[in-house]
Amino acid sequence: MARTSRFPGFYKITVAERRSLVSESTGVSAEQMARAFDDGGLNPEAADKFVENVLGVYALPLGVALNVRVNGHDHVVPMVVEEPSVVAAASNAAKMVRAGGGFHVEIDEPIMISQVQLIEVEDLESGPQAILVRKSELIAQANKCIPGLVQRGGGVRDLEVRRIGTPDDRMLVVHFLVDCRDAMGANLVNTVAEAMSGELARLVRGRAGLRILSNLCDRRCVRVTCRVPVDELATDDMQGPEVADGIVNASRFAELDPYRAATHNKGIMNGVDAVVIATGNDWRAVEAGAHAFAARDGVYKPLAVWRREGAVLVGKLEMPMALGTVGGTLRVHPAARLALEMLAVSHAGELAALAASVGLASNLAAVRALATDGIQRGHMALHARSVAVAAGALGHDVERVAACIVEARDITVEGAKRALDLLRKSDIAQLASDGLTRDRRADDA
Ligand code: MEV
Repeated sequence: MARTSRFPGFYKITVAERRSLVSESTGVSAEQMARAFDDGGLNPEAADKFVENVLGVYALPLGVALNVRVNGHDHVVPMVVEEPSVVAAASNAAKMVRAGGGFHVEIDEPIMISQVQLIEVEDLESGPQAILVRKSELIAQANKCIPGLVQRGGGVRDLEVRRIGTPDDRMLVVHFLVDCRDAMGANLVNTVAEAMSGELARLVRGRAGLRILSNLCDRRCVRVTCRVPVDELATDDMQGPEVADGIVNASRFAELDPYRAATHNKGIMNGVDAVVIATGNDWRAVEAGAHAFAARDGVYKPLAVWRREGAVLVGKLEMPMALGTVGGTLRVHPAARLALEMLAVSHAGELAALAASVGLASNLAAVRALATDGIQRGHMALHARSVAVAAGALGHDVERVAACIVEARDITVEGAKRALDLLRKSDIAQLASDGLTRDRRADDA
């Protein structure tokens, strides 16, 4: 089977059947999936090597976003998330986007910022110049501390000096702009900051303060555009153009109100974080970068906006995305490694493009739901499944119990227990009546 991310009816089949379909499309075998995903890929002994004071492991569901087409290529995108409906909603929205050609993504070079704070600077006027005249020398010196990265084609590309605070603060900040290639880069960038701080402090006749990366990695942004034919947005009760206008209205709300923008962006991060976690990346770093970027003009703004252009709804998202496909402790996590293998990305930028596309899909799903039925209907239907499981339903009973409690508008564990009880009784009654019918037929014969 060619690499596809279209699997109609995927949600209705068993986990084993899904693995086999995904295996045909991605080349990752069902056995590999069983090994890496059955128990979350990590046992307590392995977990003990990751962090301190380990008592055990804490598993989360790993699903896949379907229908995702980015820059003309299909990807089955692993997502790790505990919230019901996030995976389904992203897949559903990606299908609408696909009808308009999929996501188109541009990515910046993987430049991270290494910050060195200089304090007690003797002369704030001459300090920056003292550094800038030695720029190439300092860059060459910094590159010597990260030979492996330089060998892989990365390294320090530039250096900037910023003056911050009032003259009383006597503070400068030096930024090394480091091309991290396929690494997220935190360790590399911190190495540069720590190695170079002494020399910088000497040049400005001050003292080194903090030496650390900045998570506002605004040189490492990803820009996603999608063009959705408005008819794809139609619901049972609303025409596509009306839904599109509702989505633009939702976008304007977020553009005008930070209270709404925070929730709008949370919807984006539902998708982004799920991919970031599945691939073993640092989601706190991505979150920090996203929100700092959203507030970069002094007012908190949405990371994605929507406009209607006639029969097409156009969505645009821009955000920093520091992801790696090499290095980092989590890359030794078997489930994260397999998730990366399933994605078959050739470099970290491609992974960033996928995470951001799933983020835009999640946002589209959320604002479409909000502009039409409201979020609760879909959420409740999926929440009902977890409630059914909590009530003891297994296998096909999960869907049947969920459908009953949604219908009865009683999405509680008690309600689910009652529904399960009734279903089981009616199954037994049905079996008994089938048996009787069979016996009668046997007697007649
Ligand atoms: C819930 O996880 C996310 C939403 O609140 C996002 C939004 O309001 O746009 C539905």
